[in-house]
Amino acid sequence: MKNLLSFGCGNMAQAIIEGMYKEKAELSYTLYTPSNTRAIALAKNVSGTHLESLEKIPASDFYMISCKPQQLSDLAKEIKGKLNPDAVVISILAGTTTDTLKSLLGVEKVLRVMPNTPSLVGAGVNAFYFSAAVSKEEREFLTRTFESFSKVFTFEAEKEIDIITGFSGSGPAYIFEFSRILVEKMISMGIEREIATEMIKWTFYGSSKLQLESPDSSEELRNKVTSKKGVTFEALEVFKGAGFEKIVDQALDAAYNRSVELSK
Ligand SMILES: NC(=O)c1ccc[n+]([C@@H]2O[C@H](COP(=O)([O-])OP(=O)(O)OC[C@H]3O[C@@H](n4cnc5c(N)ncnc54)[C@H](OP(=O)(O)O)[C@@H]3O)[C@@H](O)[C@H]2O)c1
Repeated sequence: MKNLLSFGCGNMAQAIIEGMYKEKAELSYTLYTPSNTRAIALAKNVSGTHLESLEKIPASDFYMISCKPQQLSDLAKEIKGKLNPDAVVISILAGTTTDTLKSLLGVEKVLRVMPNTPSLVGAGVNAFYFSAAVSKEEREFLTRTFESFSKVFTFEAEKEIDIITGFSGSGPAYIFEFSRILVEKMISMGIEREIATEMIKWTFYGSSKLQLESPDSSEELRNKVTSKKGVTFEALEVFKGAGFEKIVDQALDAAYNRSVELSK
């Protein structure tokens, strides 16, 4: 069985590794974090091994870089030259290019992944970009493994990863923020928090399910809820009048600019 060693076991790494484990990926797991606590906890959840220090690094098939981008240089100093040169390095770091990873870690095979947190419930979106040195077999294995718990989209140009980051990577946060606003408004109008929360959760879940299962476009689905001069119509007119589309457009440009800035 192939081994995956993760440097960092935060929210995102946990979502991915638990997703792999739940779907019985043909992998064993070795987990490392500087403070040990989260590595020990994740090792327990996925029948893995906890790596206590970076002095000696096991020769794994895959190394997953799961720290924050600003923690990468510290990690790289400790692990460069100690990795199996044939392994594929999987990086989930936002904005860190394959060239940066190759030079900081002294490796050639890199899979850059832009994940999102719904991987925790088997409904994640993962965007892939492979460096040239990753073989066809390795690409197929990694695609199959991630597809067991998420939707995988492979991009041929790395700059496309900067584009999609602010959509699928950050996207869940936009949904949760919109959901929060709806819940708070419902409560302010007198509905109990528990009921408001459940109703909005199910409204989002049901709308996503309908969108996935229906051949209609988002616009058509919206129109089916919106009769002229009706309740929904009035709300959408306010969105339009306040420039909702322009605000979203500006927010997505800001996310993209930050993504490009981080890639430099
Ligand atoms: N969260 C998201 O929705 C999301 C989406 C797309 C991409 N990402 C990317 O995923 C990465 C991780 O994000 P996260 O939200 O999972 O972060 P997080 O919860 O803060 O976890 C970071 C992990 O990195 C570990 N770490 C810190 N310094 C390290 C070092 N020098 N060497 C090895 N490990 C180190 C931490 O260890 P301790 O446990 O000891 O503190 C922790 O386990 C980021 O690069 C981010 O860009 C996240």
